[in-house]
Amino acid sequence: MGCCGSKVASEDPRRSNKSVLKSPVLCASSVSQGSKHTHTASTKSTVEEEEEPALDERSILLLQTSWEEFNKINSGQFSNLYGVMIFVKIFQLSPAASTLFDFVDETEEVSLMKNKKMHCQVDHVLNALSTAVTNLGQLAFVAGILQKLGGRHVAYNMQEEYFDSFKIAVMYALEAALEDKLTEEHKAAWKVFLDIVCENMLIGFRKQKQLND
Ligand code: HEM
Repeated sequence: MGCCGSKVASEDPRRSNKSVLKSPVLCASSVSQGSKHTHTASTKSTVEEEEEPALDERSILLLQTSWEEFNKINSGQFSNLYGVMIFVKIFQLSPAASTLFDFVDETEEVSLMKNKKMHCQVDHVLNALSTAVTNLGQLAFVAGILQKLGGRHVAYNMQEEYFDSFKIAVMYALEAALEDKLTEEHKAAWKVFLDIVCENMLIGFRKQKQLND
């Protein structure tokens, strides 16, 4: 749980009665094949009826084990170093993204490592990623959470192009933390996963923008 109590991290599919396929859901299987499509509740109405295979079992295992390892390393001696590194990289790639955080004065790694609010924000994102990685077997559930989260980012002044920086930044931090342990197979699985995260957040983001217009 993050220091600011992110709701996302506490969601549990076993306690959720929501029909998560009410809105279009991005299929991981189609992402990995390079063609994206959506389907709606009119064809499938419950999580249990979801037939589309998510990432295959091996990819899910690779994601979960490497994520566990990343978290172990990230909670080591320099706590959250690699989590903060994600934001440092985002701010390098998209300098304007730093203006969304009122507590960010300097974007240097050393100053951000000392910034408690930065650590809180890192916890938000890492917790959200943990929820997604942990529940990958239930992609429709994960998609529902991410779409809502994406919708909330409209109010945070998020810009669509920042998602590309986010994907690069997460991969960068994973490589820095895991070094040789992050194989090409791991990287391929992470690429598909990060696409799923950002595509679903974008679905919610665009829907919320339309509602606001
Ligand atoms: C470059 C990309 C991103 C930027 C610039 C960004 C920006 C922000 C901002 C400005 C806030 C509000 C902070 C506050 O008011 O305290 C926020 C909250 C949050 N962000 Fe992001 N975000 C990004 C990507 C993501 C991604 C990819 C995830 C999830 C995987 C995520 C998860 C969260 C969560 C969980 C919160 C806490 C508030 C909530 O649940 O609505 N963010 N983000």
